[in-house]
Amino acid sequence: DKGTYPFYMLKEIDEQPNVMRRLAQVYLSETGAPVVNDALLASMKKADRIYIVGAGTSYHAGLVGKRLFENLTQTPTEVHISSEFAYEQPILSEKPFFIFLSQSGETADSREVLVNVNAAGHESLTITNVQNSTLSREATYTMLLHAGPEIAVASTKAYTAQIALQAILAKALGEADKQIVAQRFDIRQQLGLVATGIQAIVDEKDKIEALVKQSFLKTPNAFYIGRGLDWGVSLEAALKLKEISYVQAEGFASGELKHGTIALIEEGTPVIGIITQSKTAGLTRSNLQETMARGAKIITIVSENLAKDSDDIVLADVDELMTPLISVVPTQLLAYYTSLLKGLDVDRPRNLAKSVTVE
Ligand code: M6R
Repeated sequence: DKGTYPFYMLKEIDEQPNVMRRLAQVYLSETGAPVVNDALLASMKKADRIYIVGAGTSYHAGLVGKRLFENLTQTPTEVHISSEFAYEQPILSEKPFFIFLSQSGETADSREVLVNVNAAGHESLTITNVQNSTLSREATYTMLLHAGPEIAVASTKAYTAQIALQAILAKALGEADKQIVAQRFDIRQQLGLVATGIQAIVDEKDKIEALVKQSFLKTPNAFYIGRGLDWGVSLEAALKLKEISYVQAEGFASGELKHGTIALIEEGTPVIGIITQSKTAGLTRSNLQETMARGAKIITIVSENLAKDSDDIVLADVDELMTPLISVVPTQLLAYYTSLLKGLDVDRPRNLAKSVTVE
């Protein structure tokens, strides 16, 4: 039931602070230590490499997961698009462990990979929102997202839940392995900060609606740019905009723009910069300047500690590994309002189904 909400998508965006708190309740002990199935941890500890597999938004959540696992556990981690992995399998390490990310647990492309993984006798974990879904039944282990039903075709709270759960798992695995970075990573505090940070963004919806009215309603295209984790979020932001507002959008590694794509920038083209990583903040800012010099309409989404007075959307500070959980939210709202104000069916965009059960 969407209650007083005009569309499920907006309701699901608004639910994200609660989803973060619920994950902390379900997966952390009273002292804030992760509570994760011992057999799963033992199996992951044996692995020399983690392979994360997913489609669409779930693949994008995996891009963040890679960074979490590599930073907190020092285990090399690869992320793959399921439909590619299924038929162009990379050379596997000696002891691979597979993580399947799937909101629905029914995505045919991901299942095709899991069938092969099972046939080869490898262990796997499905992270899903749907208990007893196909991918959950067929994997060795399951962790549930506890995000509540996601009805809108555009995935929002499942993405943030997938990232938060990967952070919990990476913390658990890193600690089990006595990794200092993991020991120091206060996951409970971080999830609390994230919940508050998301709340602050959803409380400022009017501001995002105003940005959409200014720059998004007439444009045929838009670019999201960033580096590192911000690039990963750019890909997700662009997918969301394409999917429900039919604006041709691209997520781009900001340093790569000048190697060709900048030719597409015209007077008024929206270029949204995501800036949450201190190492590369200055570089992305100068890439934004380059597009502005060619007429782009710039919008900035920036963590508070890196922000300037002129920035458009300022995000609460969290650990730099956790920033995608907050920075994605304004991009969800940008897509939502663009679709809404164009009079489109936000929850049921053309040509799409909630779960894609054909390859
Ligand atoms: O249920 P899954 O997470 O496996 O679905 C994967 C994609 O089909 C899904 O994320 C899709 O990209 C969304 N509609 C994007 O908003």
